[in-house]
Amino acid sequence: MSNPRDVVVLVGSLRKESYSRKLAKGLIALAPAQLKLEIVEIGELQLYNQDVDENPPQTWTAFRDRVRRADAVLFVTPEYNRSVPAPLKNAIDVGSRPYGKSVWDGKPGGIISASPGAVGGFGANHHLRQSLVFLNIPILQQPEAYIGGVDKLLDEQGGIANESTKGFLSKYLTAFASWIDKTGAR
Ligand code: FNR
Repeated sequence: MSNPRDVVVLVGSLRKESYSRKLAKGLIALAPAQLKLEIVEIGELQLYNQDVDENPPQTWTAFRDRVRRADAVLFVTPEYNRSVPAPLKNAIDVGSRPYGKSVWDGKPGGIISASPGAVGGFGANHHLRQSLVFLNIPILQQPEAYIGGVDKLLDEQGGIANESTKGFLSKYLTAFASWIDKTGAR
């Protein structure tokens, strides 16, 4: 079998007990053999500033290099005020510059939003899509993944406890693997 696809996972929450991070860890455990998922941290990236980019900090260049090497990117994010949490938007901005050197261009992507609320981060999910369209990230369209009531779906160890959620996320990852094959082959 060929090597598994290298998928960077960006988690939109920085808090230690984040449900989104637990969900991301659950996804790592659920991933099919075709995918190798790895969380890449975004909390240390300083706020994007074009002046600073004349001599970019090591955290920015390391982040850009890591994403550039990856076959695909999976966003796992909560919703803040019906939109994308600032650290995640900042990571997207950092990766998009300098002009003409975006690490996102053509890289297949997927979005899983999550919330303790019933709407499952729909607003964040779709605001994120708006940026990803501009950045030319081909985004998996179906299945869509809005994980509502996420706080009730995890077990004590932080894994995914709910069997139906596990089944849905396994299907999502299988569809994502096919999507990467279709859109990102290299
Ligand atoms: C929230 N939360 C929230 N939830 C939601 O469903 N829609 C929203 O618009 C918001 N807005 C929002 C703004 C801010 C600043 C915070 C801190 C929180 C609640 C949010 O879903 C909840 O805190 C999650 O637990 C955050 O995700 P993590 O950190 O558990 O991954």
